[in-house]
Amino acid sequence: MSEPTRTGDLDERAGWDQLAGFYYEFRSEGGKFNHQDRARIGESGYMKDLIARTPLDGKRVLDAGCGFGYYAFIAADLGASVTAIDFAPEMIERARSLARERRAQIDFQVGDVTNLSPLESGTFDMVVSGMDLEIPDVSLAFAEFARVLNRGGRLVFSVPHPVIQHGSWHKNDEGKKDHFRVAGYFERGPFIAEWLDENRQPVRFRRYRRTIQDYVQALANTGFVVTRLFEGEPPAGCEKSDPELYADLHLAPTYLIVEAEKR
Ligand SMILES: C[S@@+](CC[C@H](N)C(=O)[O-])C[C@H]1O[C@@H](n2cnc3c(N)ncnc32)[C@H](O)[C@@H]1O
Repeated sequence: MSEPTRTGDLDERAGWDQLAGFYYEFRSEGGKFNHQDRARIGESGYMKDLIARTPLDGKRVLDAGCGFGYYAFIAADLGASVTAIDFAPEMIERARSLARERRAQIDFQVGDVTNLSPLESGTFDMVVSGMDLEIPDVSLAFAEFARVLNRGGRLVFSVPHPVIQHGSWHKNDEGKKDHFRVAGYFERGPFIAEWLDENRQPVRFRRYRRTIQDYVQALANTGFVVTRLFEGEPPAGCEKSDPELYADLHLAPTYLIVEAEKR
């Protein structure tokens, strides 16, 4: 197993371990912090549609950077045989316990998306990777995804939209988000993010900025062709059900969701 990604004094694996409890309550439908999860409108609907775009019954799916298994369980419910990996042992513990509760047969393993050496080449029909590719070198992950996929296999992934990672929000006199000012779009590299865990303790970890062209180039260089791309536009229905979030997500693109095929 590879070593944790250490950047300066920040250990990203330890950060995600500390966030495991919060993240479950944030991402899972019905979780007590789920109302904070903007991805439930701008990201997961697109991902679920892409995952279900072709029949998964009897197919092999890898969920790479699976967390507590949000997409792994979705793929398993669609009939896939699922392997799921994450480098944070606490996330995998939580995922295994959920699988026991739900009687789901998912092979959860601790592992790094940039080194999938325990997995055989050409054995998966789909790789799903939700919101976990803010890593130092995304090409390493794409190369591993290409290696484990069959020819014609699909990669479906989401990341924070590059635009939203290069600039800052500006609020109006009422304190509401008014516009997003893009600045330094072509500056790549690490930045430090801070989340609060379920006890409101700050967790700092490093994330990485890149541009849309960086993702597409890295895909092309590792043997993929982009077949679909979405930018997290909030669906019309949520204008009524969640007007504030709709207005917010409508101002600037927040998520990038990509489907690519291994050639
Ligand atoms: C935002 S969470 C997303 C989890 C899950 N995919 C989902 O959609 O809910 C990011 C996850 O990526 C994992 N992660 C980050 N870098 C990783 C790496 N290099 N290898 C494996 N997992 C990684 C973290 O431990 C964390 O569980």
